[in-house]
Amino acid sequence: MMNRLRGSGKRGFLITFEGVEGSGKTTQMNMLHAHLLRLKVDVIATHEPGGTRIGEEIRRIILNPVFGEMHPLTEAVLYAADRAQHVQEVIKPALDEGKVVLCDRYIDSSLAYQGVARGLGLEAIRNLNEWVTGDLYPDLTVLLEIPFEVGLQRLRKRRKALDRMEGQPERFYAHVQEAYRSLAKLFSARFLVLNGAEPPDRIHHRIMQEVLSLLGLQRSSE
Ligand code: TYD
Repeated sequence: MMNRLRGSGKRGFLITFEGVEGSGKTTQMNMLHAHLLRLKVDVIATHEPGGTRIGEEIRRIILNPVFGEMHPLTEAVLYAADRAQHVQEVIKPALDEGKVVLCDRYIDSSLAYQGVARGLGLEAIRNLNEWVTGDLYPDLTVLLEIPFEVGLQRLRKRRKALDRMEGQPERFYAHVQEAYRSLAKLFSARFLVLNGAEPPDRIHHRIMQEVLSLLGLQRSSE
Protein backbone atom coordinates (compact mmCIF):
# COMPACT_ATOMS: atom_id res chain seq x y z
CA MET A 1 0.00 0.00 0.00
CA MET A 2 1.20 3.47 -0.90
CA ASN A 3 0.91 6.21 1.72
CA ARG A 4 -2.19 8.27 0.95
CA LEU A 5 -1.54 11.95 0.70
CA ARG A 6 -4.33 14.47 1.17
CA GLY A 7 -7.96 13.38 1.06
CA SER A 8 -9.51 11.87 -2.03
CA GLY A 9 -10.25 14.30 -4.84
CA LYS A 10 -7.35 16.55 -3.89
CA ARG A 11 -4.25 16.82 -5.98
CA GLY A 12 -0.73 15.62 -5.15
CA PHE A 13 2.33 17.76 -4.60
CA LEU A 14 4.77 19.32 -7.03
CA ILE A 15 8.31 19.73 -5.71
CA THR A 16 10.90 21.35 -7.97
CA PHE A 17 14.70 21.60 -7.79
CA GLU A 18 16.54 24.68 -8.99
CA GLY A 19 20.06 26.06 -9.11
CA VAL A 20 22.91 26.90 -11.45
CA GLU A 21 24.64 24.05 -13.28
CA GLY A 22 26.72 21.94 -10.93
CA SER A 23 24.72 22.96 -7.84
CA GLY A 24 23.93 19.33 -6.97
CA LYS A 25 20.17 19.55 -7.48
CA THR A 26 19.94 16.35 -9.53
CA THR A 27 21.82 14.41 -6.83
CA GLN A 28 19.48 15.81 -4.18
CA MET A 29 16.39 15.04 -6.21
CA ASN A 30 17.54 11.45 -6.67
CA MET A 31 18.26 11.10 -2.93
CA LEU A 32 14.81 12.44 -2.08
CA HIS A 33 13.19 10.18 -4.67
CA ALA A 34 14.89 7.07 -3.22
CA HIS A 35 14.00 8.06 0.34
CA LEU A 36 10.32 8.69 -0.47
CA LEU A 37 10.14 5.35 -2.27
CA ARG A 38 11.51 3.67 0.87
CA LEU A 39 8.69 5.37 2.82
CA LYS A 40 6.25 3.94 0.24
CA VAL A 41 5.18 7.37 -0.95
CA ASP A 42 3.65 7.35 -4.44
CA VAL A 43 6.29 9.52 -6.10
CA ILE A 44 7.74 10.09 -9.57
CA ALA A 45 10.88 11.96 -10.63
CA THR A 46 11.11 13.84 -13.90
CA HIS A 47 13.09 16.69 -15.47
CA GLU A 48 13.08 19.65 -17.86
CA PRO A 49 13.90 20.17 -20.60
CA GLY A 50 12.78 16.66 -21.55
CA GLY A 51 10.66 14.26 -19.55
CA THR A 52 8.50 13.33 -22.57
CA ARG A 53 9.27 11.92 -26.02
CA ILE A 54 8.56 15.29 -27.62
CA GLY A 55 10.42 17.08 -24.85
CA GLU A 56 13.56 15.03 -25.43
CA GLU A 57 13.52 16.12 -29.09
CA ILE A 58 13.04 19.77 -28.08
CA ARG A 59 15.87 19.36 -25.56
CA ARG A 60 18.17 18.11 -28.33
CA ILE A 61 17.52 21.30 -30.33
CA ILE A 62 17.79 23.71 -27.40
CA LEU A 63 21.04 22.31 -26.03
CA ASN A 64 22.79 21.56 -29.34
CA PRO A 65 25.90 23.78 -29.41
CA VAL A 66 25.79 24.03 -33.23
CA PHE A 67 22.76 26.34 -32.93
CA GLY A 68 24.74 29.34 -31.73
CA GLU A 69 22.40 31.61 -33.68
CA MET A 70 19.33 30.72 -31.58
CA HIS A 71 17.41 33.86 -30.67
CA PRO A 72 16.49 34.31 -26.97
CA LEU A 73 12.79 34.41 -27.95
CA THR A 74 13.10 31.09 -29.77
CA GLU A 75 14.86 29.65 -26.74
CA ALA A 76 12.13 30.88 -24.36
CA VAL A 77 9.34 29.49 -26.53
CA LEU A 78 11.08 26.13 -26.93
CA TYR A 79 11.46 25.75 -23.15
CA ALA A 80 7.78 26.72 -22.82
CA ALA A 81 6.74 24.20 -25.49
CA ASP A 82 8.68 21.49 -23.68
CA ARG A 83 6.97 22.49 -20.42
CA ALA A 84 3.48 22.54 -21.95
CA GLN A 85 3.88 18.95 -23.13
CA HIS A 86 5.47 17.87 -19.86
CA VAL A 87 2.68 19.37 -17.73
CA GLN A 88 -0.08 17.86 -19.88
CA GLU A 89 1.47 14.46 -20.42
CA VAL A 90 3.29 13.78 -17.15
CA ILE A 91 2.92 16.29 -14.32
CA LYS A 92 -0.84 17.01 -14.27
CA PRO A 93 -1.97 13.40 -14.68
CA ALA A 94 0.36 12.37 -11.83
CA LEU A 95 -0.88 15.18 -9.58
CA ASP A 96 -4.48 14.29 -10.41
CA GLU A 97 -3.72 10.76 -9.18
CA GLY A 98 -2.48 12.25 -5.91
CA LYS A 99 1.20 11.54 -6.59
CA VAL A 100 4.20 13.48 -5.41
CA VAL A 101 6.03 14.82 -8.48
CA LEU A 102 9.71 15.73 -8.22
CA CYS A 103 10.94 17.84 -11.10
CA ASP A 104 14.54 18.77 -11.90
CA ARG A 105 14.06 22.41 -13.10
CA TYR A 106 10.70 24.03 -13.89
CA ILE A 107 9.20 27.54 -14.27
CA ASP A 108 11.86 29.23 -12.12
CA SER A 109 14.58 28.10 -14.55
CA SER A 110 12.81 30.01 -17.32
CA LEU A 111 12.31 33.05 -15.10
CA ALA A 112 16.01 33.08 -14.12
CA TYR A 113 17.66 32.07 -17.43
CA GLN A 114 15.32 33.55 -20.05
CA GLY A 115 13.57 36.26 -18.03
CA VAL A 116 16.63 37.71 -16.32
CA ALA A 117 19.90 36.37 -17.79
CA ARG A 118 18.68 36.61 -21.41
CA GLY A 119 16.96 39.89 -20.59
CA LEU A 120 13.51 39.00 -21.92
CA GLY A 121 11.85 40.30 -18.75
CA LEU A 122 10.23 38.50 -15.84
CA GLU A 123 6.71 39.62 -16.74
CA ALA A 124 6.82 38.25 -20.27
CA ILE A 125 8.29 34.91 -19.21
CA ARG A 126 5.91 34.65 -16.30
CA ASN A 127 2.89 35.28 -18.56
CA LEU A 128 4.11 32.78 -21.15
CA ASN A 129 4.68 30.12 -18.51
CA GLU A 130 1.47 30.71 -16.62
CA TRP A 131 -0.31 30.29 -19.94
CA VAL A 132 1.39 27.02 -20.93
CA THR A 133 1.12 25.46 -17.45
CA GLY A 134 -2.38 26.68 -16.62
CA ASP A 135 -0.89 28.54 -13.62
CA LEU A 136 0.60 25.37 -12.18
CA TYR A 137 3.17 26.48 -9.61
CA PRO A 138 5.20 24.16 -7.36
CA ASP A 139 4.17 23.52 -3.76
CA LEU A 140 7.84 23.57 -2.81
CA THR A 141 10.93 24.71 -4.68
CA VAL A 142 14.35 23.66 -3.39
CA LEU A 143 17.02 26.14 -4.44
CA LEU A 144 20.59 24.95 -4.04
CA GLU A 145 22.88 27.94 -3.85
CA ILE A 146 26.47 27.62 -4.85
CA PRO A 147 28.88 30.20 -6.26
CA PHE A 148 28.45 29.80 -10.01
CA GLU A 149 32.23 29.52 -10.48
CA VAL A 150 32.23 26.41 -8.26
CA GLY A 151 29.29 24.98 -10.18
CA LEU A 152 31.02 25.50 -13.51
CA GLN A 153 34.19 23.89 -12.18
CA ARG A 154 32.23 20.80 -11.07
CA LEU A 155 30.62 20.69 -14.50
CA ARG A 156 33.91 20.84 -16.38
CA LYS A 157 35.27 17.98 -14.30
CA ARG A 158 32.20 15.89 -15.02
CA ARG A 159 31.97 16.27 -18.79
CA LYS A 160 34.24 17.07 -21.70
CA ALA A 161 31.89 18.79 -24.14
CA LEU A 162 29.70 21.67 -22.95
CA ASP A 163 26.14 22.05 -24.30
CA ARG A 164 24.80 25.30 -25.80
CA MET A 165 23.54 26.62 -22.43
CA GLU A 166 26.80 25.75 -20.70
CA GLY A 167 28.98 27.62 -23.16
CA GLN A 168 27.80 31.08 -22.03
CA PRO A 169 30.12 33.79 -20.72
CA GLU A 170 30.57 33.77 -16.91
CA ARG A 171 28.48 36.92 -16.37
CA PHE A 172 25.46 34.99 -17.71
CA TYR A 173 25.63 32.59 -14.75
CA ALA A 174 26.21 35.48 -12.35
CA HIS A 175 22.88 36.89 -13.58
CA VAL A 176 21.18 33.51 -13.19
CA GLN A 177 22.47 33.20 -9.63
CA GLU A 178 21.29 36.70 -8.74
CA ALA A 179 17.92 36.04 -10.38
CA TYR A 180 17.36 32.89 -8.32
CA ARG A 181 18.03 34.89 -5.17
CA SER A 182 15.41 37.47 -6.15
CA LEU A 183 12.88 34.76 -7.06
CA ALA A 184 13.39 33.10 -3.67
CA LYS A 185 12.50 36.43 -2.02
CA LEU A 186 9.56 37.08 -4.36
CA PHE A 187 8.09 33.60 -3.81
CA SER A 188 9.40 33.08 -0.27
CA ALA A 189 6.38 30.97 0.75
CA ARG A 190 7.34 28.08 -1.54
CA PHE A 191 11.16 28.44 -1.66
CA LEU A 192 13.58 26.46 0.50
CA VAL A 193 17.04 27.94 -0.02
CA LEU A 194 19.96 25.71 0.95
CA ASN A 195 23.73 26.00 0.74
CA GLY A 196 24.81 23.63 -2.05
CA ALA A 197 28.39 23.56 -0.69
CA GLU A 198 27.33 21.61 2.41
CA PRO A 199 27.74 17.82 2.56
CA PRO A 200 25.04 16.06 0.46
CA ASP A 201 23.72 14.11 3.48
CA ARG A 202 23.13 17.26 5.50
CA ILE A 203 21.34 18.93 2.58
CA HIS A 204 19.22 15.82 2.12
CA HIS A 205 18.26 15.86 5.80
CA ARG A 206 17.01 19.46 5.56
CA ILE A 207 15.04 18.71 2.39
CA MET A 208 13.52 15.63 4.01
CA GLN A 209 12.35 17.61 7.06
CA GLU A 210 10.64 20.14 4.83
CA VAL A 211 9.08 17.55 2.54
CA LEU A 212 7.71 15.40 5.36
CA SER A 213 6.07 18.44 6.88
CA LEU A 214 4.65 19.46 3.47
CA LEU A 215 3.22 15.97 2.95
CA GLY A 216 1.88 15.82 6.50
CA LEU A 217 3.88 12.63 7.20
CA GLN A 218 5.58 11.70 10.47
CA ARG A 219 9.35 11.60 10.52
CA SER A 220 10.58 8.16 9.63
CA SER A 221 12.48 6.07 12.15
CA GLU A 222 15.33 5.58 9.66
P1 TYD B 1 20.46 20.12 -18.11
O1 TYD B 1 21.34 19.20 -18.84
O2 TYD B 1 19.17 19.64 -17.63
O3 TYD B 1 21.36 20.74 -16.99
P2 TYD B 1 21.37 20.83 -15.44
O4 TYD B 1 22.05 19.59 -15.00
O5 TYD B 1 22.13 22.07 -15.18
O6 TYD B 1 19.91 20.93 -15.01
O7 TYD B 1 20.31 21.40 -19.00
C1 TYD B 1 19.35 22.28 -18.88
C2 TYD B 1 19.87 23.63 -19.31
O8 TYD B 1 18.76 24.41 -19.74
C3 TYD B 1 20.51 24.38 -18.16
O9 TYD B 1 21.59 25.12 -18.65
C4 TYD B 1 19.43 25.36 -17.74
C5 TYD B 1 18.66 25.60 -18.99
N1 TYD B 1 17.22 25.91 -18.82
C6 TYD B 1 16.75 27.16 -19.14
O10 TYD B 1 17.53 28.04 -19.55
N2 TYD B 1 15.41 27.42 -19.04
C7 TYD B 1 14.52 26.49 -18.62
O11 TYD B 1 13.31 26.77 -18.54
C8 TYD B 1 15.02 25.18 -18.29
C9 TYD B 1 14.08 24.11 -17.85
C10 TYD B 1 16.38 24.93 -18.41
